[in-house]
Amino acid sequence: APDISLSNVKAHLTQLQSIATANGGNRAHGRPGYLASINYVKAQLDAVGFTTTVQQFTYNSATGYNLIADWPGGDPNQVLMTGAHLDSVTAGPGINDNGTGSAAILEVAKTVASSGFQPAKHLRFAWWGAEELGLRGSQFYVNNLPTADRAKISGYLNFDMVGSPNPGYFVYDGDNSAGTGAGPGPAGSTEIENVIRSYFTGINVPMEDTDFDGRSDYGPFISVGIAAGGTFTGAEGTKSSAQATKWGGTAGSAFDPCYHRACDTTSNVNDTALDRNADAIAHAVWTLSAAPPATET
Ligand code: PHE
Ligand code: CA
Ligand code: ZN
Ligand code: ZN
Ligand code: ZN
Repeated sequence: APDISLSNVKAHLTQLQSIATANGGNRAHGRPGYLASINYVKAQLDAVGFTTTVQQFTYNSATGYNLIADWPGGDPNQVLMTGAHLDSVTAGPGINDNGTGSAAILEVAKTVASSGFQPAKHLRFAWWGAEELGLRGSQFYVNNLPTADRAKISGYLNFDMVGSPNPGYFVYDGDNSAGTGAGPGPAGSTEIENVIRSYFTGINVPMEDTDFDGRSDYGPFISVGIAAGGTFTGAEGTKSSAQATKWGGTAGSAFDPCYHRACDTTSNVNDTALDRNADAIAHAVWTLSAAPPATET
C-alpha cells in the first residue's frame, strides 16, 4: 500500500481548524462549522472523481449530515467501508477528536484516486454526523440501509482519535482475545484486527487491544453482524508506566489531556502517531479490498 503523506493529512487538519475558528470555535452537530466541514470534505472528493452523497437526518431538532463517498468500480456485492465521525463536541474544534480520523481517511481516499489502484472490492468512505451525541449519524445510516445492501458490506473500518498527543497504539479487539467487551465481534472482525496488527508489527510498534464495546461508529455495524475493526490512540485514559516504556510519552498523563476540551486544536496532535495510523489505514484498505490470493478457498 502507498505511504500516505503526513503533510497532506495535516493540511486537512489546518482547514478543519480554520472552519471551527470561523464558526464560533467548534464543528458540532447543528452548528455552522459542521456543515462547513462536510462541504470541505465533499469538495475534496468530488474533485478527484468520487461519487458523493450527503445523507440528512434530524436529531435534537437539528439537521445532521453524513457524507458517503463511493469510488467507482469493484465488486458491488463486496463493499469495504471506511469511516470516521466529522463532528466535534461544542466545547472545541475537535482536531484530534475527530479531525485526525476524518483527515486520515480523506487522504487515504484521495490516494486511492491518484494511485490507479484497482480494488477487487467496491470502496466506500463515510464521514458521520452527531457521533458525539450517541453515534446518531452512523446509526441512521445502518438503520436506513436496505437488508440486501447490508449483506454486501464485507467490513467496516473505523478511525476515531488517531493522533493523540500522548499516544497509545490500540486496535479494536475484534477477536476479544483481551476478554474485553461482550464477546468476539462478527465473523471477519478477527481478520480485520490481524491485518491492522500486521502493519504495526512491520514497523516494530507494539499494539494493545482496546475494548470492542461500541464506543464509536462501528457500534451500529457490529450490532447488525457486519465485521469491523479500527485503531485508536487513546482519549481520557491514563498512560501507564509500562505503556510509556514501550511507546514513549508521559506516564501518569492522559493519552489526550484535551479530550472534549477547547484545547483540542492543531497543537493537540502527535505527528508520528498520525502518520503511522494514516499509513495503517492505507495498508488495511489495500489489503482487505484486494483480490484474495489464488490459494484461498
Ligand atoms: N467515541 C469517543 C468520542 O468520540 C472516543 C473513543 C473512540 C473512545 C474509540 C473509545 C474508543 O468521544
Ligand atoms: Ca506516511
Ligand atoms: Zn468525542
Ligand atoms: Zn470521537
Ligand atoms: Zn485482539
